[in-house]
Amino acid sequence: MGSISELPQSTSHFTNLPQIPTDEPFAVNGSYIKDTHPKKVNLGIGVYRTNKGDPWPLRVVEDAEKAIYNAQDISRHEYLSIQGDREFLRLAADLVFDFDSTQSCAGTTHSSLGRVTSIQTVSGTGANRLGAEFLTRNISPRNVWIPAPTWANHHTIWDLAGVPRKEYPYYNNATGEFNYEETLQTLRTSSSKNDILVLHACAHNPTGADPSREQWEGILDLCKEKGLIPFFDLAYQGFASGDVGKDGWAIRRFFEEGGIEFVVAQSFSKNFGLYGQRVGALHVVSSSSAAQGVSEDILATLCHLVRGEYSMAPRGGAEIVRRVLGNKELRARWAEDLDTMSTRILSMRKALFEELVALGTPGDWGHVVKQDGLANNDLVNESNVRYVAMAIDDVVRTVS
Ligand SMILES: Cc1ncc(COP(=O)(O)O)c(C=O)c1O
Repeated sequence: MGSISELPQSTSHFTNLPQIPTDEPFAVNGSYIKDTHPKKVNLGIGVYRTNKGDPWPLRVVEDAEKAIYNAQDISRHEYLSIQGDREFLRLAADLVFDFDSTQSCAGTTHSSLGRVTSIQTVSGTGANRLGAEFLTRNISPRNVWIPAPTWANHHTIWDLAGVPRKEYPYYNNATGEFNYEETLQTLRTSSSKNDILVLHACAHNPTGADPSREQWEGILDLCKEKGLIPFFDLAYQGFASGDVGKDGWAIRRFFEEGGIEFVVAQSFSKNFGLYGQRVGALHVVSSSSAAQGVSEDILATLCHLVRGEYSMAPRGGAEIVRRVLGNKELRARWAEDLDTMSTRILSMRKALFEELVALGTPGDWGHVVKQDGLANNDLVNESNVRYVAMAIDDVVRTVS
């Protein structure tokens, strides 16, 4: 009998598979691995690195891992429910909506909890994907509005969901800021009721330019006026400013509005450094008038989608997050770790800005320090910042 490789091509079912577009960050990563240059710098995948360019397992995460291991709970490898770890979900929702805080924007109370239906997901990507599938099947949006530019996977996710994608002009190249006026004008003139509006809750990837609080108010008004369904992608809570409350402000503001329904895709990859553990949640927010009535149906629908896809999310990483968020002392230490990471990111931005100014690189580089978040500056470190600035300088002088 011949081996599969000897079969004539025409006998395979897979000879006419469609050409798949390249995923840019992973393609850049592949080129980086192959490159033999001694001073190569990886500006592809958005991950936090130390000054030496190494990964940094959060100290509080390491301690939580040890405690979990030492407890030797015999159930630690059992299946979760389809919804996931409920205590983790309660804490995850608290982090986003601030139910526990006395400082919530306008007296949000625990009774508001009935408006939020949460399910554990395979990290932020899985939350985006599940949210897209849920809305597509149940709301039948005519279009999804995606910022230009955006995290490349938004295109893939909504392409797979089969919803026509439209872009709104998010970034103003001239000012290095969020293009508020044009965004509003585009959406006002071209969007339809029940269209989905994808929004980065903070630390917009890849620009690092976020709306101001006044601009969020304008976006909220527009969503109400046009009947749009906001889809918040929350991948960097605590990374933009080091303060989870500040970074989640826009979502809480939309929540308080009561009448607006939206979803939140939450990731713990960056803010806990749990990239490979795939920890996340999807929160579906119903209007205050619908509240209790629909939550059970929403959960049943989400569980049905998850059951047919992968049954339930992984438990290991969620257990770490649950331990940290559920313990006052560990949570305070997590805040310190977040501060360490966000401070370093900001100081690397400052260092890069200063090098570019010192080199006299043509252009205004103020946006490097005005913007926030990882963007791709995470791999600029004290030893290579000058080298990265020189490479940018070289490119700018070549193209200008
Ligand atoms: C804007 C945005 N959303 C979602 C994600 C998803 O990350 P993960 O699936 O690792 O949680 C990322 C990761 O880079 C991102 O930048």
